Order: sequence, then C-alpha cells, then structure tokens
Amino acid sequence: MKNRLNELTKQIDAALDFYLPAADNDQKIIYEAMRYSVFAGGKRLRPILMLECAKMCGGSVEEVMPFACAMEMIHTYSLIHDDLPAMDNDDLRRGMPTSHKKFGEANAILAGDALLTRAFEVAASAKTDPAVTVRAISMLAASAGTEGMIGGQILDIQSEGKKIKLAELKNIHLLKTGAIIRSACTIGAIAAGMNEAYIKTLDDFGTNLGIAFQIRDDILDVEGETAALGKTVGSDASLEKNTYVRLLGLERSKDLVEEYSDRAKAALAKFKKKADFLTELTDYLINRIN
Ligand code: IPE
Ligand code: IPE
Ligand code: MG
Ligand code: MG
Ligand code: MG
Repeated sequence: MKNRLNELTKQIDAALDFYLPAADNDQKIIYEAMRYSVFAGGKRLRPILMLECAKMCGGSVEEVMPFACAMEMIHTYSLIHDDLPAMDNDDLRRGMPTSHKKFGEANAILAGDALLTRAFEVAASAKTDPAVTVRAISMLAASAGTEGMIGGQILDIQSEGKKIKLAELKNIHLLKTGAIIRSACTIGAIAAGMNEAYIKTLDDFGTNLGIAFQIRDDILDVEGETAALGKTVGSDASLEKNTYVRLLGLERSKDLVEEYSDRAKAALAKFKKKADFLTELTDYLINRIN
C-alpha cells in the first residue's frame, strides 16, 4: 500500500504542478503563495480517495485527475483560511509557516480565494462526458459550501467556548471534514460512470471515513507530536474548541475512530477484492501520526 500511495502522490503532485504554473509578472506573489501552500507537503488524501474510488469503479486516472486536483486546491484553500488569525490563528501548517505568516494576511486570503477559483477552472477542463463534468462540479461546489465544509467551519467557530451535545459535534465533523471526503469518493464513482447504488455505497464509505479522520485529527491535536504532525499541537484546547477528545476523552475517541473505520470498511465489502487498497488505507489512517 505504501508504494501505491507514493506512486499516486507523485502523479497528483505532477498534475498539480501542471495546473498551477508559476508566473513571472507583476502579480507573481499570488502564484508563489498558491504554490507554497499546495506544495508544502499535504498527504493528498482526498485526491487519492477520488482516484482510487474511480479505479475501483473501472474509471481511468487521467479522466478523474482534473477533479482530484480541483479538490486538493479547495482543501488547501480551506486550510489557508482555517489558519488565519480570525479563525484558528495557527502558525504552522504542513510543517511550514502558515500562509499568512509567510506572505501576510491579505496575500493569504487572496491565495485561498485564488485556489478556490482556479479549482473550478481546472474541474471544467475535464474531458469527461459534459453531463458527468457538470454533476461532478456541482458536487464539488456543494461539498465545499454552506451545506458542506463552510457550513461546518461556521458551526465550529460559533461553538468555541460553548458546551454542545455530541450530536451537534458529529454534525460539525460531518460538515467541515466529512463533506469533502465524501464527495471525493462519490465524484470518483460518478466520473467512472458508476450506477447510483454504488455511488451511494461510496458516499457511505466517505461519510464514515470522514468522521473517523476528523476524530483522529482531534486526538492528534492532544497527543500528537508537532514535528510529525506539521501543525502546532494544543491548538484546539487553547481556542476551547469542541472536539471528540474534549467531550468524550481520549480512550472513547480512539474507540470511535475504530468504530467509524469499521463502518467505512463494511461499506466497501460490496466491491470485494477491488477494495483491498481502500480497506488497507482506512486501517492505516486509524493510527496515523500526521
Ligand atoms: C487537515 O486535513 C484538516 C482536516 C480536515 C482534519 P489533512 O490532515 O488531510 O491535511 P493535509 O492535506 O495532509 O495537510
Ligand atoms: C478544519 O478542522 C477542517 C477544515 C475544513 C479546514 P481543524 O481546524 O481541526 O483542522 P486543522 O487541525 O487546523 O488541520
Ligand atoms: Mg478549524
Ligand atoms: Mg485548524
Ligand atoms: Mg484539528
């Protein structure tokens, strides 16, 4: 699995490099800032999920790559904005100073905006059937928007310092992190021309994986190592964020990562041996250290 992850990461990075060329003009700072955050060293989980879901459904990597890169650009923009002083106020991301630390706040805000905008230009360049392209773009937008990632970020910020119920926290995680992970999986299936039943199955896989992923993120903020994580640990506690660890403690949170991962794997069972890589990846993410 590790070899396959490396191979996919290389392919994705090469495509991102193609879609985000540097420029030597008066506004070159924006290209520099966009590339700085994208190539700071993310895990590329969302494009990997999309490409592997597409492959599992009989699709081709080339066809899906524009959507996969668009999704990583949207994800990276969400991180740049998430780190801003007005949001989580973090100094370290992907092992490097955050965008606003390196380029200043105005440039960081614009780099996020520019990545979001460029993402749709890249997705629109896909060579898939036009109806498929439109559906994938619509899903990409919806998962990043007010009923998806942005919706979750709003609730996350609103709930700082407040006591909320577990169901509310689960909803925050489903939206701020789960929505994009889910659509990574379903767009892969849609681009591969899969039927609705299988798209639904991958939606289920992504939903459960997304929750497990964000609970593990909450755990790492408490017991991770800044050097491995590439982010400053303790950020959630200092902002009085609602997290699984705060509501339920470390042990119960770890159990829940396993429970949601089991549900994610159960959804994959329908794909039999074709799901081996994604099953192994799900297991690997349970104990990830970054
Ligand atoms: C970080 O996502 C933000 C969350 C949704 C938890 P990742 O942990 O996938 O970050 P990168 O892309 O590897 O930097
Ligand atoms: C943010 O969750 C998820 C996003 C939509 C960016 P966190 O705020 O916990 O992510 P990290 O820990 O800063 O990566
Ligand atoms: Mg946040
Ligand atoms: Mg944050
Ligand atoms: Mg976090």
